[in-house]
Amino acid sequence: MQITYLGHSALQIDNEEHTLLVDPFLSGNEACPVKPEEVQCDYILLTHGHDDHIGDTEQIAKANEATIVANFEIADFFGGKGLKTHGMYIGGAYEFPFGRLKFTIAHHGSSLGTENGRIAMGNPAGHLLQMNGKVIYNAGDTGLFLDMKLIGEMNPIDVAILPIGDNFTMGVEDALKALEFLKPKTVIPVHYNTWPLIEVDSAHFAKEAEKLGVQAVILQPGDDLEL
Ligand code: NI
Ligand code: MN
Repeated sequence: MQITYLGHSALQIDNEEHTLLVDPFLSGNEACPVKPEEVQCDYILLTHGHDDHIGDTEQIAKANEATIVANFEIADFFGGKGLKTHGMYIGGAYEFPFGRLKFTIAHHGSSLGTENGRIAMGNPAGHLLQMNGKVIYNAGDTGLFLDMKLIGEMNPIDVAILPIGDNFTMGVEDALKALEFLKPKTVIPVHYNTWPLIEVDSAHFAKEAEKLGVQAVILQPGDDLEL
């Protein structure tokens, strides 16, 4: 299987049979190598309702007849537009055709700007994905929290996907502490350098992560990691 970075927090996860898009913020991100009309997927996984995560979900879901997996409020919102959805909530897991997905806590916001103003989109979440025998933890947008220790204790994490851009989420220092809690084999940093406000030194993060015994993989938009 493969994890392809599409810039910001957008990822594509593929195995032989399925393609999942995670937080597909594509057209709003200059660094993204693909256009919404070019991607193909059967599922779209959303961590929360912010515009830089919902991104092009509606267009992509429509074009691909993809199922949107998100918290109940987001699922309800897109269900009302006639799209296929699967609503979940924090602590809940479900066996999908592609693997097992569990929603985990995240400390953040989750509103979406619409033509009718900004609307509440439930609670933000992280995703714990078991697919092809691998465990992938995508923290979503969040600050550091001690329960990451529990997530690390209960799950042998192969790849942790952590925000490092600071200001809206964990910065480098807190993300390094998260690695101590989660003990993943590999970390992929996300949610940085998209805008000046979240510019950080990813090479420094990688160097410090390696000191903790975690392989840091810095992906440029379009790069992938083979698992
Ligand atoms: Ni956010
Ligand atoms: Mn965000």
